Amino acid sequence: MSCRVAVCVSGGGSNLQALLDALQGEAPARVVLVLSNRPDAGGLERARQAGVPAEVLGDPADTTDWITRLGRRDVDLVVLAGYLKLVPPGVLTKYRGRIINIHPALLPAFGGPGMYGRRVHEAVLTSGATETGATVHLVDEEFDRGEILAQRRVPVHAGDTPESLAARVLEAEHRLLPAVVLAAARAGRPVPLTDNASPAGTE
Ligand code: GRF
Repeated sequence: MSCRVAVCVSGGGSNLQALLDALQGEAPARVVLVLSNRPDAGGLERARQAGVPAEVLGDPADTTDWITRLGRRDVDLVVLAGYLKLVPPGVLTKYRGRIINIHPALLPAFGGPGMYGRRVHEAVLTSGATETGATVHLVDEEFDRGEILAQRRVPVHAGDTPESLAARVLEAEHRLLPAVVLAAARAGRPVPLTDNASPAGTE
């Protein structure tokens, strides 16, 4: 039985696209719903192009609305892929252990409130770190603090700008996120992957 995945986006949705591309054919998971807090999120258009229902949350803090939308599509797994709002506590309770997030750094470093987008990569460069990466983790009540399921390391190069670093990390994200979702589908729930692991077929 296929794992039914909802993807939540606030922006362009390149990670959503990586999932749409990976979860086809014989894959044990499908994107069945895309939710956004922003009507102009590019990810909504990617969903429509792929024939996936794309819905805008009128009030992203409305638990009943979330649960109705997820329930209507029989969602098994919720993926936050560039979703910039907190998920309401009632949704976290109902879907505990079945909501994951991707973050563009090696958590617990460079995470938490306000650490998103360009700011993450600026902070990495300012710190002088020689390595960064991407993290997929379970979502709990705090930003970027749930159990880490998988990370992929990315080198920081001399002369990197926030933009060049973001682009390199994003490539890693596009490999890591489908790998975690496929592993979750096979296991029946999100499970940890070993560092840099990518199940066959996602490379
Ligand atoms: C990614 O860097 C992701 O890690 C972060 O937001 C960004 C979303 O990019 N949470 P996209 O919308 O998937 O292109």
